[in-house]
Amino acid sequence: MLTNKILVAPLFKYLDIHSYYFYRLLMKNIYIYNGMIHTSSYLSNYKYYNNIFRKLNNKNTIIQFVGNNYKDLYKCIRYINIFKFREINFNLGCSSKSAKRCNYGIYLMNNYNLIINCLNSIKEASNIDVIISIKHRLGLYNISYDYLLDFVGNISLYTSCKKFIIHARNILKNNYSTYFNLNKTILDYEIVYKLKKDLSHLNIILNGNIKNLFDINKHLSYVDGVMIGRGIYFNPLFLVAIKNYILNKNYINNYDIENFNQNLFFNKNKISKYIIFIFYNLYNYIVLQKKKNINLYNIIKHIIYIFNNIKNASIFRNRILRSINYFNSFNNYLDFIYFIFKDFI
Ligand SMILES: Cc1cc2nc3c(=O)[nH]c(=O)nc-3n(C[C@H](O)[C@H](O)[C@H](O)COP(=O)(O)O)c2cc1C
Repeated sequence: MLTNKILVAPLFKYLDIHSYYFYRLLMKNIYIYNGMIHTSSYLSNYKYYNNIFRKLNNKNTIIQFVGNNYKDLYKCIRYINIFKFREINFNLGCSSKSAKRCNYGIYLMNNYNLIINCLNSIKEASNIDVIISIKHRLGLYNISYDYLLDFVGNISLYTSCKKFIIHARNILKNNYSTYFNLNKTILDYEIVYKLKKDLSHLNIILNGNIKNLFDINKHLSYVDGVMIGRGIYFNPLFLVAIKNYILNKNYINNYDIENFNQNLFFNKNKISKYIIFIFYNLYNYIVLQKKKNINLYNIIKHIIYIFNNIKNASIFRNRILRSINYFNSFNNYLDFIYFIFKDFI
């Protein structure tokens, strides 16, 4: 049940190997895009990154590089070939101040030649069957269909990149606030639908503010796939809904956007067995991480978003966060689960 149609977006500094483990507990076969790694950062710290790559599920995790030096990119790909990632993604969407200063991410979007050189470097350096994709926005400061068509058309013509993940926004000029550039610029899905219609031979994935099954269902009638970032991070149970949707399209009819978590997992103020099951299944993982002296907070911080959009969410979150401090003295993980849920089972 691996789907190319619904993908988890890279969220630099938010997603990590613990969140990947947790997400795959909720939905085993889901493709997750790893947060961007700058080529020079990789080359100066490759042992550190390789150590992480070794722990990833390389069939289902996609690596993303960012940068503008195609020779460096070539070296990076040669180094990571041993991990046999199925897809390598090049970031053309990052809009930070440092991206502007160093000319990478979205600021490359007006420089076709450089992008083409970078993508051709990836192709030359990589294993034969690797998928090459880019993640970009509609454009830099303005939205123009002709520009987008030209951009995607040219890149697909001169490189082996046939997969385009499009965050359906542009950015604001001279405003480097991530918040603004992720929330305040206009989202234009229609332009991406049109692109897919005109370039139907390409794999077009739509991204931006997708938060429920109704959105997914609608977009999938126009494009090849959707990518979801914050909609999953802040509501991981969305993955369970996605899993059910893939198994059974009719599931959407029973899906209540507003009260989804509340109805399915926390019905009538009682916790569903499924939530307990998730916590129970985390046991081995948590024990293993504890042995490695990993701070438990780094694992739990992702999991507490399970309690989004439900009554008593703050009680659960507080109990979990409080219990972390004395988790070391808990001999029995079941006690820990009981402590969190005691009034709700
Ligand atoms: C905290 C954070 C980190 C992000 N890191 C990356 C990244 O490393 N690479 C990338 O291509 N996009 C990154 N993005 C953009 C997201 O992948 C995605 O395009 C954007 O959040 C819109 O999708 P969403 O509304 O589903 O979250 C990041 C966004 C956020 C909020």
